[in-house]
Amino acid sequence: MDYSKYFSADVPSFLRSPVREIFRKVDLSAICSFAGGYPAAVTFPLADIPGLAEKVLGRYGTKALQYGATQGVPELREVIAKRYGVPVSQVQITTSSQQGIDVCSRVFLDPGDVVLAENPVYLGALQSFRAYRARVQEISAVSARHSEHASCHSEHSEESPVKFIYVIPDFNNPSGKTMTLQERQEIVRIARELDCLIVEDSPYRELRYSGEPVTTIRELAPERTLQLGSFSKIFAPGFRLGWIIGPEELLEQIYICKQCLDLCPPVFDQYLAAEFMGSGMLDANLQKSIAEYRRRRDLMVSLLEKYMPAGVSWTDPEGGLFLWLTLPPALDTVALYDKVLSAGVAYVAGSFFYTDGSHRNTMRLNFSFVDEAKMEPGIKLLAALVREAAADAAAADAVAAAAAAAAGAVADAAAADAVAAAGADAAAAEGGR
Ligand SMILES: Cc1ncc(COP(=O)(O)O)c(C=O)c1O
Repeated sequence: MDYSKYFSADVPSFLRSPVREIFRKVDLSAICSFAGGYPAAVTFPLADIPGLAEKVLGRYGTKALQYGATQGVPELREVIAKRYGVPVSQVQITTSSQQGIDVCSRVFLDPGDVVLAENPVYLGALQSFRAYRARVQEISAVSARHSEHASCHSEHSEESPVKFIYVIPDFNNPSGKTMTLQERQEIVRIARELDCLIVEDSPYRELRYSGEPVTTIRELAPERTLQLGSFSKIFAPGFRLGWIIGPEELLEQIYICKQCLDLCPPVFDQYLAAEFMGSGMLDANLQKSIAEYRRRRDLMVSLLEKYMPAGVSWTDPEGGLFLWLTLPPALDTVALYDKVLSAGVAYVAGSFFYTDGSHRNTMRLNFSFVDEAKMEPGIKLLAALVREAAADAAAADAVAAAAAAAAGAVADAAAADAVAAAGADAAAAEGGR
């Protein structure tokens, strides 16, 4: 049966995530996976969960198992509002921050609208923007254009409206980069000039291992920023809980939209999260997670220094879960992937995060999921295969250069023959006169 006629006009725009495909095909526990953005299982407060669950059931009884408010249970909204210094009315609970991205896309984007984003960009966000048939443009290009022409506003709004700027200012996924205060101010300046919103995706902000926190974009421009938070990396992703902080008028539309997405976020999970955050357990657990991740980041950086061949560089992020590697330009991490995977190591090719599939010599490495004992053999193996690919590329270059030189020599000889023949012809013609 041909089902294609049943699909909506949006369906061809759906983007399959190469990262999720890796998880579908590969048993993560059987390999050394630097691919996903999974937190370390040791950071989950496993031992605290039974006590938390007992408390929640004792306090709320069947209410914890019932449907709840679409905005989220008041107890969770209150602890989040208190932690981030905003009124409760500016907090909407989401069923994870991926839903936060999707609901913002659904509420603000029409087909053809423009989202300005960094390139490379978080794949899950790209999937949502594409699903609503929005176009993604690189923010740095707009920023450069703006410094040249202060009148860029009209240029953009006439073409197609920029509805929002999507950024991950802290410990970006995938690049690991953190925006400076000046870069954040520049984002705000562009947003004000274009009169668009900003979606500040911030699931990693609390995972800082070095350096000083930088002011959030929400703090710089609260009137036009929707800041997305998540419990996935500071509690456990299995609870699927996140939040949006933003202006009430915007949250009102998000609230209406969310009614048809899930009616309400998971109630039992919300009470657990409220208790975990409100009682101080989250902060205590966070300190342990930060120490764990700092060790893993430092270990991965030191192993890269030890094993990677010359010509490979990487970021040293101040937090988050990812390192970004750049290999010599001749190497192709998409082509290399199968060989590395069959040797038992996984990464994500960097080009998957570029809207145009470029930068095929880059890769994203996650340092949070693989335990420390597995990290050294994993990086050693990856480095050996990168070295081998670099040698193959150099050999291929040498063969190509030799072939080009030989072709050049043949051409030179042919040209010399032609010149000689022409000379002989001319001489013959001369003699004939
Ligand atoms: C930048 C970014 N935003 C959002 C998400 C989604 O997180 P969750 O839906 O688990 O809150 C992720 C997950 O890795 C991410 O890296």
